[in-house]
Amino acid sequence: MVGIVGLGSYVPEQVVTNADLEKILDTTDGWIKSRSGITERRFARKDQATSDLAQIAAERALEDAHLSPNDIDLIIVGTNSPDMLYPATACLLQEMIGARNAAAFDLQAGCPGWVYAVTAGTQFIQSGMYKNVLVVGAEVITRMMDNTDRGTYVLFGDGAGATVLSTVEHGGFLSFELFADGSLAQYLTLPAGGSRKPFSKEVLKERSYFTKMDGQAVFRFSVREISRISKKVLDKANVPLESVDWFVPHQANLRIIQSGAQELGIPMEKVVVTIDKYGNSSAASIPIALDKIYTEGKLKNGDKVLMVSFGAGMTSGAIIMEWSR
Ligand code: ACO
Repeated sequence: MVGIVGLGSYVPEQVVTNADLEKILDTTDGWIKSRSGITERRFARKDQATSDLAQIAAERALEDAHLSPNDIDLIIVGTNSPDMLYPATACLLQEMIGARNAAAFDLQAGCPGWVYAVTAGTQFIQSGMYKNVLVVGAEVITRMMDNTDRGTYVLFGDGAGATVLSTVEHGGFLSFELFADGSLAQYLTLPAGGSRKPFSKEVLKERSYFTKMDGQAVFRFSVREISRISKKVLDKANVPLESVDWFVPHQANLRIIQSGAQELGIPMEKVVVTIDKYGNSSAASIPIALDKIYTEGKLKNGDKVLMVSFGAGMTSGAIIMEWSR
């Protein structure tokens, strides 16, 4: 089986509280807390881009795996906020960590980017093509947000989580599920800066180089997908819901997490929550949350971990894993 043999994460030091946002937006601490569960989030320094966050998380994961950068055969970075449109952030990361033997590419699949990338990375190992794959979810997603739009700006934070995948003797990934519905694409977009709408005066004026979101449509999709795709991935692996020890959902909104857990029948003691402190760090949120219970010593050998994500595309993805180190 393939599993995680190294795990690490990094969040920038700068804490931005709801009170800080009250100063620049027509919003309140009370609204943000009650509607999203967020009290504070992290913002990258001005000189930090996504690859810088990814580097720290990746070096921590490599150290945890007791592997050197030269042992890595492939790097996949799941991100929606690459340093540049090209080259791939994974190539920049390859150079930064000195992974001379690694192929490298980015994978863009909305917030489930890390879930999609772990699924893809596993296939390379299972096919025998590669031995060790570094999968990173990294974002400086706050730079994609409009600081005049209270509907999006308050929700997001920056961060990175990294995992080294390799063959494991026990446990590992038990099954994967991926899903996409492009008919819902319009609900969460960053319209400009690509080939459809290159940068122009008009783009600048309409602020379409920032994220546009229909929050309620995303909310509905997310709650539906959490329970639907989680049940599917568990069925496929023949793992009953009661056997799940940890539920690690994408951290987009506490109400989404609670509704999803409730619909599935998973008690909140089993749910890992970081949204209060970090906000929504998009493709980085699941590996950061996983690293939280790992570094706190709560994740035990044999624990069954259900991870589920949803986001722009619209996409969703789920993984059931048996932790073994
Ligand atoms: N402060 C104060 N008021 C606000 C704010 C704010 N920051 N944002 C919106 N409001 C107002 C709205 O203008 C609206 O006012 P109105 O009734 O006068 O028109 C009112 O609050 C209610 O707005 P709703 O959009 O109905 O609020 P809702 O309860 O749906 O919460 C939210 C909005 C938090 C965005 C919610 O819909 C949500 O979390 N959706 C999912 C978003 C998400 O998860 N996105 C990312 C997922 S994918 C990814 O991670 C990239």
